[in-house]
Amino acid sequence: MNELAGKHILLGLTGGIACYKAADLCRALIKQGATVQVVMTQAAAQFITPVTMQALSQRPVYDSQWDSRADNNMLHITLSRAADACLIAPASADFMAKLVQGRADDLLSLLCLARPLARLPLLLAPAMNREMWAHPATQRNVAQLLADGATVLPVGQGEQACGETGDGRMLEALELLDELLAFFQPKTLVGQHVLITAGPTYEAIDPVRGITNLSSGKMGFALARAAREAGAQVSLVAGPVSLDTPRGVQRWNVRSADEMLAAVNQEIASATVFIACAAVADWRPAAAMAQKIKKTPTGLPPAIEFVENPDILATVAQSERGRSGALYCVGFAAESHDLLAQTQAKRVRKGVPLLVGNIGPDTFGRDDNALLLVDADGSSELPRNAKLVLARQLITEIAHRIGVGARS
Ligand code: C5P
Repeated sequence: MNELAGKHILLGLTGGIACYKAADLCRALIKQGATVQVVMTQAAAQFITPVTMQALSQRPVYDSQWDSRADNNMLHITLSRAADACLIAPASADFMAKLVQGRADDLLSLLCLARPLARLPLLLAPAMNREMWAHPATQRNVAQLLADGATVLPVGQGEQACGETGDGRMLEALELLDELLAFFQPKTLVGQHVLITAGPTYEAIDPVRGITNLSSGKMGFALARAAREAGAQVSLVAGPVSLDTPRGVQRWNVRSADEMLAAVNQEIASATVFIACAAVADWRPAAAMAQKIKKTPTGLPPAIEFVENPDILATVAQSERGRSGALYCVGFAAESHDLLAQTQAKRVRKGVPLLVGNIGPDTFGRDDNALLLVDADGSSELPRNAKLVLARQLITEIAHRIGVGARS
C-alpha cells in the first residue's frame, strides 16, 4: 500500500549506532510513497555517511546551517516549512537535551526550533544505552519534550551495541514506519477500550487431532491495529494464528471457544467496544480423548459426540452492559449467499447494534475483503479493499455510531 503518498518527511539523524537502521527506515518511507529529506548532525555522520542517505533518499543531504547550496541560505526555514512531519531517528540523549533547552547551534536543532509548532509535528525515536535512557536527566527531558508537544516514541528492549541488555534500543525500521502511519490516523477512539476476538478456534478431539476452520485472523488483527491507531486501548483475544501482534495491542492467545470466552470475560468489564471477528467453531467434541484415538480392526470410524459451543457474541451482547449500550457490540457474519438478508437476520438474532457481513470464501486467508454494514437504520457497503483500509473505515464507522469524534 502507498500509505504515505503525498507526504514529505523530514528525517533527522543524530549521533548513535542506531543510525544504521535509519537507512532501512528511509527506504521503507519511500516504499510507502513518501518523499524524504534527510538532515544529519555532525555526530550522525560519524556513524553513517551522508552519501548513503543521499543515495537512498535521492535528495541532497544537509548537515550544516552554513550550506551554501540553499538559494536563500535559510535551510532551517525552507526545510521545516516543506515537511508534513519531522522524525528524528535516532534521537540521541544529547540531542533531546538540546531540544529541551531550545538550543540551535546545528541545522537539525535549529530547524526543530524554527518549525511552525501547530503545523509540523515532531516525532523522536530515542536510541541510547540503558543507563542513559533510565537517567533522571533523560526522563526529565522526555517529560519536557512531551509537554512541549513532541511525540516521543517508545524504545525497544534487548541487547545493546555496548554489550549491555535493557531499555533504550531504537525501534526497528518497520516498527518506526508503523508508528508514523499510526500517528497520521485520526484519533477517533481516544479513551475507549476495544476488545476484539480474531482467528479460528481449535476444538480438540484427542491430543493430536481437532476441528478448526480456515479463518486467517487477518481481519481481526487489522481491526486491532486500526483501533490502536485511532487511540484506543486494545485487547485482542486470538485463536491459533501465527500473525504478529499489532504494536501497542495486548494479546491473549487461546485455542478453544471455551478459552476464548474465558479470556473475553477477563477483559469485558472495562471494555467499551466489543468486536467479535473470530470464526468460533459452532460445536466441539463432548469430551476430548486423553489419548490418541487408534484405528480398529473393524475399520469403523470412531463415533464422536458433539456439544454446542457458547455463543460468545450473544452472551456479551445480552449482558447488562451490552443491553444498556454501555458496551457497543459488533458482530461479523461470514456467509456464502444472500448476504444482506442473512446479515440482517443475524443482527437481530445476536441482539447487536451493528453486524458486518462478508462472503466467507472471498475473505478467508486473503489480504483484501468487502464488507456490508447492517444496523437498525439499514445497510451500507465498504467496497473491496485491503483489510487494513477496511478496518480503518469500520473503526471510523464505529466511532461515529458511539458518538465520539476525531480529537486530532
Ligand atoms: O452464528 P455465527 O457463527 O454465524 O455468528 C457469527 C458472529 O458471532 C461472529 O461475530 C462471531 O465472532 C460470533 N460468534 C461467537 N461465538 C460463537 C459463534 C459465533 O462470538 N460461538
